[in-house]
Amino acid sequence: MNKIVFDPNQATEIELNSHYEACYRGSLRHLLHKGQRKVYDRFFHPESWDIGILASRGYGKTLTGCVIAITFALRNPNTRTMHVFPSMKQASDSAGAVYRMLSSSLPANIRPKFNKQEATLHFKNGARICLRGVHQNNIERLRGGRTHAVVADEIGFWSEDTFIDAWRNCLLAQFVGATNHPKTLFLTTPPYHKDHPFLTEVLPLAVKDNSFFQMTYEDNPFVDSRLMNKFIGIYGKDSIGFRREYMAELVFDSAFTLVPEFNQARHVSSEKVENPPRDSNGLPVSSLTVLGVDTGGSIDNTAFVGGFIDRNTNKFIVTAEHILNDRTLGRPHTLADVASQVTEIRTSELNKFGNEGFTSIDCTPLVASSLRQEYNLEFNRPKVRKVVDNIEFLREHFASDRVVINPDCTNLIETLENALWDEDKTGIARSKQYAHGDVIMALIYALREVQYIWDSAPGSNKELNKLSNRRIDNANISKRLAGIFRT
Ligand SMILES: Nc1ncnc2c1ncn2[C@@H]1O[C@H](COP(=O)(O)OP(=O)(O)OP(=O)(O)O)[C@@H](O)[C@H]1O
Ligand SMILES: [Mg+2]
Repeated sequence: MNKIVFDPNQATEIELNSHYEACYRGSLRHLLHKGQRKVYDRFFHPESWDIGILASRGYGKTLTGCVIAITFALRNPNTRTMHVFPSMKQASDSAGAVYRMLSSSLPANIRPKFNKQEATLHFKNGARICLRGVHQNNIERLRGGRTHAVVADEIGFWSEDTFIDAWRNCLLAQFVGATNHPKTLFLTTPPYHKDHPFLTEVLPLAVKDNSFFQMTYEDNPFVDSRLMNKFIGIYGKDSIGFRREYMAELVFDSAFTLVPEFNQARHVSSEKVENPPRDSNGLPVSSLTVLGVDTGGSIDNTAFVGGFIDRNTNKFIVTAEHILNDRTLGRPHTLADVASQVTEIRTSELNKFGNEGFTSIDCTPLVASSLRQEYNLEFNRPKVRKVVDNIEFLREHFASDRVVINPDCTNLIETLENALWDEDKTGIARSKQYAHGDVIMALIYALREVQYIWDSAPGSNKELNKLSNRRIDNANISKRLAGIFRT
């Protein structure tokens, strides 16, 4: 076993003197084991920025963070380091004890004082280390002041919203005006979701910058091999849990996959469908077109998914998608934008396939009446249903291969491929990259309309009607459909 963190009570005089001498030089590197030292060296490399560590449980992530924070404080008078955890309780439970242990090993005249109320270590040179939780209720406590270094522990378990509020909006902003080259150390075991911002935002930059480290339990000299064998027995060496928690591998639990039935090979057409299907005489057949819209207020996304029902195959062919948000538009979007996008998709994209169009827009009653009265739009509003029921409905459609998507609807395809349940599996995990699953909701609203049409066709299996659960405010729809549908 390696030498444990320096214990002054057990050290010989020579050891104690060389430890103190290193502390005065602002180096605590000797307290770390081999893998941890690589992280330490990278952090203090003059060129590095953000350092990302994926490491197994009990690797010594928190301890490494504390050693680096103290070293930074000793070397940089009057600076502030924010050492942040998912919650304040975690901060004081895990880092509090480590800081006490490390502080007490420092020579008395450079030993920091821990102010419990402020959850802050005060160094004699004016440097501070602030322990903070980034739980939503605590984010206000992060605001203000200048920060010179950040240690973000268990970053893989910050929610995306927290990542944005705490990291991007608070901590990163506090680097502005810092007199040093600001750095962040991100430490974590692998997150559960592959679209977690640690993986999508931090990791690619860290990799590019040679500042990414992945450490398994085998790299941990303190690991008790008997205990590990016991864990292997319990978990199974190839299990997702063991690979994630102890091999620090990026493996994801398919139990969180939102639409496991979606399969690109089966549900994405190899070529873009641009023309309406033809009948046995080769003549184009006008189809029923459907547009689903999930509105999200002016700052959230509004997603549109449209297509037509192929009367030869009776499948719904998705041919159009669009997302309105301030990234696609450069400003918050308005009702007028929503209305004109509906008209645009209907006339320019869906009209090619047919003109018996149905539109379903999920919006508030107020928005609905405004879209109807001010913008003359005709549409239905889907009845409110639980997300789990909506997703079950969607999965049913992919399981029975009733949907085919044009290959250029890349947003929808990627979202279906990557969307995940949130932690308690009652909603879609929020993810900027996949538009918070809004395109999926738009597809569901379109499909509920399609399902209603299928159900209303003569000879259909009315049993399925309960699945569509559509708000019927178009009394003569069956009559309109009767002539169009094959039986
Ligand atoms: N360099 C080291 N010297 C001595 N002890 C160490 C060292 N690194 C880690 N340890 C010990 O290993 C244990 C785990 O360390 P720590 O809590 O920092 O790991 P972690 O990776 O943050 O764990 P978790 O996954 O539970 O958050 C602690 O008891 C810690 O003191
Ligand atoms: Mg830890």
